[in-house]
Amino acid sequence: MKVLRTVGELRETIDGHRSAGKTIGLVPTMGALHAGHLSLMERARRDNDIVVASVFVNPTQFNNPDDLSTYPRTEEADCKALESAGVDYAFIPSVEEIYPEPDTRQFDLGEVASVMEGAMRPGHFNGVAQIVSKLFEMTRPTRAYFGEKDFQQIAVIRRMASLEGFDLEIVACPIVRESDGLAMSSRNVRLTPEQRAAAPAIHRILAESVERAVSSTVAEVKKSVTEAIDAEPFMTTEYYEIVDPLTMQPTDSWMPPNGSAVGCVTVYCGDVRLIDNITYTKK
Ligand code: PAF
Repeated sequence: MKVLRTVGELRETIDGHRSAGKTIGLVPTMGALHAGHLSLMERARRDNDIVVASVFVNPTQFNNPDDLSTYPRTEEADCKALESAGVDYAFIPSVEEIYPEPDTRQFDLGEVASVMEGAMRPGHFNGVAQIVSKLFEMTRPTRAYFGEKDFQQIAVIRRMASLEGFDLEIVACPIVRESDGLAMSSRNVRLTPEQRAAAPAIHRILAESVERAVSSTVAEVKKSVTEAIDAEPFMTTEYYEIVDPLTMQPTDSWMPPNGSAVGCVTVYCGDVRLIDNITYTKK
């Protein structure tokens, strides 16, 4: 695996492979890699001739300076993990390399970005659109891979890609969970042992609610999930919305226009912000 640090090196290297007719898979990450990220690398490895992973803690998507400064940075371990996952190129640029000038672009992300994470973290999705559009433009991949834990982020990236006319396939990959059900996240390392022991309740409560959905309304399930999470030690629900899987708009139907409803939750476990989601598939 080769580490590329500049945009020039990235462009030149990938342009060469593209001209030779190779397919290019891009996996954007912010590092602190775990098995969830590695499942994206493995999928990209299966689908493409060349795999590029980026590792860049993107400052423009952090609306909370503490979150940016405490975000884990583990470059050496990340490189080892990428190498063993069969990645060809790790793109690890500096902030100055990506943003030689402040990025003042404002994307018209529309309704998919107006709710949930978009409402709670003003500017976050615009920052995601800035960095991902730069990575798409620099790499011009055949396919790009994102994890479904950030379910709304995928809808936002699809919207950005269509606005900007990027010709690529966006591949959504399933959430990878710890054996006790907790969705893998780079933030999990910040949980105390007691919080870590409590955190699997999020997925357990969501999974149980799928059973309850058979005989309950959306409003009833929303209420019971929120109450159950808030009753757990350390946990406070920031939002729990049940939404249409494409528009991200709250729905009162288990089968909204674009497929099975998806429940999206954000929970503070102590001061660690955890997100998760579940699909209410019809039995
Ligand atoms: O999901 C993430 O890790 C980030 O939001 C992404 C897509 C790598 C952009 O910085």
